[in-house]
Amino acid sequence: MTTGSVPAVVPAAGLAAKAAGERPAPAGPRTFSGIQPSGVAHLGNDLGAIRNYVRLQAEYDAIYCIVDYHALTSTHDPDVLRARTRDMAASLLALGLDPERCTLFVQSHRPEHTELAWLLATVTPVSWLERTPAYKDKREQQPDDVNHGLLTYPVLQAADIAMYKASLVPVGRDQAAHLEISREIVRAFNHRYGETFPEAQAVFTEAPTVLGTDGVRKMSKSIGNTIDILGEPDLIRKQVMSMVTDTQRILRTDPGRPEVCNVCQLHRFFGEDYLEIQDGERTARTGCVDTKRLLADRIIRYYAPARAQYLELQANPGRVDEILAAGADHLAPLAAEMMAEVKQKMGLR
Ligand code: AMP
Ligand code: TRP
Repeated sequence: MTTGSVPAVVPAAGLAAKAAGERPAPAGPRTFSGIQPSGVAHLGNDLGAIRNYVRLQAEYDAIYCIVDYHALTSTHDPDVLRARTRDMAASLLALGLDPERCTLFVQSHRPEHTELAWLLATVTPVSWLERTPAYKDKREQQPDDVNHGLLTYPVLQAADIAMYKASLVPVGRDQAAHLEISREIVRAFNHRYGETFPEAQAVFTEAPTVLGTDGVRKMSKSIGNTIDILGEPDLIRKQVMSMVTDTQRILRTDPGRPEVCNVCQLHRFFGEDYLEIQDGERTARTGCVDTKRLLADRIIRYYAPARAQYLELQANPGRVDEILAAGADHLAPLAAEMMAEVKQKMGLR
């Protein structure tokens, strides 16, 4: 399931867990990540990125953003966008983001992001944007809607990170190319106007690419191959039972190849006994159906408290809105300071 081995997290900078209720004191580098308001988070989001958001909030000054401006490049229904933004916020809180330990906000609530994106656009050659893999994919996926936002998407992403001078960015592997462009953009800015922004480094989990239930493509809502960890237990069970396993294992008595079986690989994250489970498959002691059933049970059990919290937040949207508003307010002075510094350097004041 994973593509190569990557350190789970950067070395801890050493703040012990903070007492609940305390805002994290800025400890070394700042962490930032953005996530699309794609609705309720799925297993790929959690294993690939959100787990690191949660870990890093205990150690660093962490800022997390639901990127609704980015989403406008593909989502054009206002009600859908609003609902998905709130669903993603509730998902993140349910999965462990703690508003006392990190700042969670919605991108459009800090409009300075688009202003900084414009300024960074003026140091970004179009050719860098045209070669971005995600842009090429989107051109194919939505050929009738190749809007300018799709092309400039990485510039806005660079602005998100640069706004807070963040240097650590927890993301899944699919964001590596975007992070590389972010670094190139701030390097170009620093070169032209003087050292201003750090070059941010991606931080991957042990599962930087989680495959979907088809066992082939990256788990993604747009493909429809997700495991909806905050959904009804019956839904999770149905999705897990539909997973494609080792396609060369035809008969129950055939030995399996756990190294290519997505179900076996996912067991790594839901129990200490995954080596035993893999051995069971390899020796045909267990069948794929048993292994899937066990995985479904474990995923359901593991996420039950998060699901309960998610439902509670869904029933109390005012609470979610309050947290998001407080997050954007908290960042206002930082954003103002950054815009003043950049404008000064660029000759705008
Ligand atoms: P997105 O919904 O594309 O904004 O993704 C949110 C975060 O989850 C990003 O950091 C992605 O890289 C990560 N992510 C999304 N899908 C997967 C996946 N299938 N495997 C690993 N990480 C993922
Ligand atoms: N492009 C990211 C995605 O699709 C979302 C994103 C926007 C982001 N701004 C960011 C990720 C800044 C990390 C840092 O998942």
